[in-house]
Amino acid sequence: MKRFVGTVAVVTGAGSGIGEQTAVRLAEEGAKLVLVGRTRSKLERVAALINHLTKETAAEVFQADVTDEEAVVELAQFVKNNYEQLDVVINNAGASGKSRILDLQTKEWERIQDTNAKSVFLVSKHLGQLLIRGGKDKDRTIVNVASLSGHKAGAMIPHYSSSKAAVINFTKALAVEMAPYGVRVNSVSPGFAETPLTEEGLKNRRFEESIVENTALRRVGKPEEIANVIVFAASKESSYMTGSDLLVDGGWMIT
Ligand SMILES: NC(=O)c1ccc[n+]([C@@H]2O[C@H](COP(=O)([O-])OP(=O)(O)OC[C@H]3O[C@@H](n4cnc5c(N)ncnc54)[C@H](OP(=O)(O)O)[C@@H]3O)[C@@H](O)[C@H]2O)c1
Repeated sequence: MKRFVGTVAVVTGAGSGIGEQTAVRLAEEGAKLVLVGRTRSKLERVAALINHLTKETAAEVFQADVTDEEAVVELAQFVKNNYEQLDVVINNAGASGKSRILDLQTKEWERIQDTNAKSVFLVSKHLGQLLIRGGKDKDRTIVNVASLSGHKAGAMIPHYSSSKAAVINFTKALAVEMAPYGVRVNSVSPGFAETPLTEEGLKNRRFEESIVENTALRRVGKPEEIANVIVFAASKESSYMTGSDLLVDGGWMIT
């Protein structure tokens, strides 16, 4: 089933991990993609992969730091100038760190808040203006990638956990504001998935074992398993869902 034929989607943090898998899935289902991130080479690799898979130029690259409002305004301008419409925005870019609260440097607090929470605000604000132009009869969606940690604060990641809790709450506020325009807004909260973000931690066998022990499904997730749910939330199949958070944690919260 090709659920995204005739649609245009912007995916932030599309150069690796969950964002890459989401972009690939959307393209396989017919979407045109704008891949956003700070590292051009990573985005170009994903664009080449997608364009090879789809046998056309389905993906374009836009290099931007989504914590920088000027860059996000330029992204909105690029989409407006190059595409007739915008249907889907996936706010996936994110970063993590590790610190006790009492040792946490203010700059590091700001880096994590900016990357995870401020970016969602900026992209939703500026690309939201394009989404609402579509008219009420067409399904348009924003999916924000939050985290299991936004539901349950994790040790040593207070800045990350609080930024992701903000994303879950912001999603609900945005869903109320966008509903009159026919734009649905939901978040997806992954548990542990194997990506560059978790690579370092997962090299530690005791850390991986503790994840497996605390996860009902007894394994770490794959980025494509998160992407599948993001794509569902972005698709018409979830047409009566807005302001929701979808927890995709292999059963971490129930153990
Ligand atoms: N993996 C997990 O277990 C897990 C669990 C819960 C939630 N998540 C969330 O899932 C999302 C994707 O993470 P991932 O696991 O797939 O990790 P990842 O592979 O590190 O992906 C994050 C992407 O975001 C981009 N990015 C970071 N800062 C950016 C900025 N300021 N502007 C633009 N792009 C930026 C990065 O590319 P550049 O550095 O090139 O910009 C990178 O490609 C994140 O929001 C993360 O918090 C992941």
